Amino acid sequence: MLIAIDGPAGAGKSTVARAVAAALGFTYLDSGAMYRCVALAELRGHPDPLGAAIGLGERITLEGEDVSTAIRAPEVSERASEVAARPEVREALVAMQRELIASGDYVAEGRDIGTVVAPGAELKVFLTASPQERAHRRAVQIGADAGQVLREQTVRDARDATREHSPLAAAPDAVEVDTTGRTREEVVAHIVALAGER
Ligand code: CDP
Repeated sequence: MLIAIDGPAGAGKSTVARAVAAALGFTYLDSGAMYRCVALAELRGHPDPLGAAIGLGERITLEGEDVSTAIRAPEVSERASEVAARPEVREALVAMQRELIASGDYVAEGRDIGTVVAPGAELKVFLTASPQERAHRRAVQIGADAGQVLREQTVRDARDATREHSPLAAAPDAVEVDTTGRTREEVVAHIVALAGER
């Protein structure tokens, strides 16, 4: 079974997807981490960023180095949304994601899991929250100024939503879940219940 959780930055995808996967005994796939690794490889001047070895698991590795923290830096977020607009990058990473999710039960989170990577997913969730709440959560997470995060988030949201290839959009059959003012536990229980109905 595949549960796709898509949505904009800071909607709570990672936290929620991780917890849903743990509750159901599924494997968690953070597709954004893959785009972030390509971005970091590029920022570091890797000769072939798409060919760099990415390790997905509890810790994210790039060429064997633990980059779990490094890939969350604001400049990597910015570059990730740029590299993610390139068709050759999407093609390569989508192929890897499809291969992974074919190997078992997954909760996969990203921007295009329910629309492009796996349109046949048994459950599709589009996770949202108000822009202010999303920026606030991210600011707390990385210890940055909420106003600054909101400005950067607005640029990234606009780029993700208007790019030509796989723009961020809810699949027609996705269940929209607004996390504004709801606890992580409430949201997770809601999604686990939805999964139980499938
Ligand atoms: O954690 P956050 O939602 O801020 O970002 P992320 O999920 O780690 O994704 C970082 C960037 O990768 C996003 O701004 C998107 O441009 C891109 N991305 C994408 O295009 N498709 C995906 N399936 C996942 C991420």
